[in-house]
Amino acid sequence: MENSLNKTVSINIFILTLSLILISSITLSFLKSSRSPLPLPSIPRSLDKTCNVFQGKWVHYPQGPPYYSNETCRLIIDQQNCIKFGRPDTEFMKWRWKPDDCELPLFDAAHFLEIVRGKSMAFVGDSVGRNQMESLLCLLAHEAYPEDITQKNSADKNYFQRWFYADYNFTLAAFWSPFLVKSGAADMNGLISIYLDEADEAWANEVEKFDYVIVSVGQWFFRPLLFYESSRLIGCHICNQNNITSISKYYAYRMAFRTAFETLLSLKNYTGTTILRTFLASHFENGDWDKGGNCGRTKPFTSNEMKLQEFNREFYSVQVEEVRKAEEKGKKIGLRFEVINATEIMWQRPDGHPNGYGRSMHTNAPVYDCVHWCLPGPIDTLNEFLLYLMKKEVPA
Ligand SMILES: *[C@@H]1O[C@H](CO)[C@@H](O)[C@H](O)[C@H]1NC(C)=O
Ligand SMILES: *[C@@H]1O[C@H](CO)[C@@H](O)[C@H](O)[C@H]1NC(C)=O
Ligand SMILES: *[C@@H]1O[C@H](CO)[C@@H](O)[C@H](O)[C@H]1NC(C)=O
Ligand SMILES: *[C@@H]1O[C@H](CO)[C@@H](O)[C@H](O)[C@H]1NC(C)=O
Ligand SMILES: *[C@@H]1O[C@H](CO)[C@@H](O)[C@H](O)[C@H]1NC(C)=O
Repeated sequence: MENSLNKTVSINIFILTLSLILISSITLSFLKSSRSPLPLPSIPRSLDKTCNVFQGKWVHYPQGPPYYSNETCRLIIDQQNCIKFGRPDTEFMKWRWKPDDCELPLFDAAHFLEIVRGKSMAFVGDSVGRNQMESLLCLLAHEAYPEDITQKNSADKNYFQRWFYADYNFTLAAFWSPFLVKSGAADMNGLISIYLDEADEAWANEVEKFDYVIVSVGQWFFRPLLFYESSRLIGCHICNQNNITSISKYYAYRMAFRTAFETLLSLKNYTGTTILRTFLASHFENGDWDKGGNCGRTKPFTSNEMKLQEFNREFYSVQVEEVRKAEEKGKKIGLRFEVINATEIMWQRPDGHPNGYGRSMHTNAPVYDCVHWCLPGPIDTLNEFLLYLMKKEVPA
């Protein structure tokens, strides 16, 4: 108990550190790049819409993907640019997700851009959500580079990004909201106040016009937190104050998603598709992040090698219950809710993280990051799922 508590605290600190590093070091260049050197096979447009693409396994795929490299995509940030910083093994890029009953189509940038022509897509959540958006930028770089229009829309370039694909009139945005609900700055004791029944305006005021909203949060709920409902303090998570009721992080996680989905359901002009990307667990082994903990594996877990811990499974269950409720309500008013069921699938990929091969541009020091994902790498698969779900929606 004591141990797991310490671990949790350490992870929190790690996330905080990582976030600070990340925030302070996002500088992107927009050089024209050549196309991916890898020829992509032509992909049948027909889709098996009844197949459960999330039931399957990782299979070795030596001919690729990757769809891009650190040379062909200029938008990889240093934290996730593992090859640039000398990661010697490349096996982690040579696995594909194989559903039991069908094929997950390869990512087809041209087809993606065709679907989103005249539309907009927002990633709402923490830096792992942004990591997926950055994977998408690189996957699309095969066809087109966007113009950075962040400045026109936000003073805060590090937290909020906006990209515009002029040839397709497609807008892609990231709204940084690590709790989905309203939160305050950390107090003297490192406690962050979060307001479980109030959506974070940073995204809630912005997403109404978006056609796709991809929602995901996770690691910040491990931190010491104060919880509010109806503007009143109702309890806390690992706050070490005897006079405040202890409340589980799962309750908070559930309420954050409930509030986020209720907000989307209630936005008057929102007609978009909401996609929940389920919780992604971190992969620290051999200690905590600050005690030599790392994630040096170079292959996926085999089926029996390591089971998803119960606490990670609980995050998954809670959010899926909430999205199912929202889905039911959405049906009545014509709003779609979809799920990228990624928890178990990405749990099997301890080999996909930067480990020591991400760099903070801030300190130029290696960061033992087992939370975010190398680009290219298994996180690209999340965008194969995303495109699959988008294609499923398009009438044949
Ligand atoms: C890509 O990675 C290689 C191998 O580490 C490195 O030599 C090269 O400089 C990197 N290229 C860019 C554009 O970062
Ligand atoms: C571009 O897309 C937006 C919706 O995202 C639409 O309102 C606008 O009319 C489109 N512009 C053109 C030139 O098609
Ligand atoms: C709990 O006790 C601390 C220390 O005495 C005090 O500062 C704080 O205001 C109390 N909080 C509540 C909610 O009563
Ligand atoms: C919703 O759209 C209508 C028609 O375009 C507009 O008049 C109204 O102001 C919008 N409502 C909100 C809350 O943005
Ligand atoms: C998600 O995947 C897990 C295992 O991969 C499976 O047990 C579960 O039923 C799936 N859930 C949904 C909502 O598809």
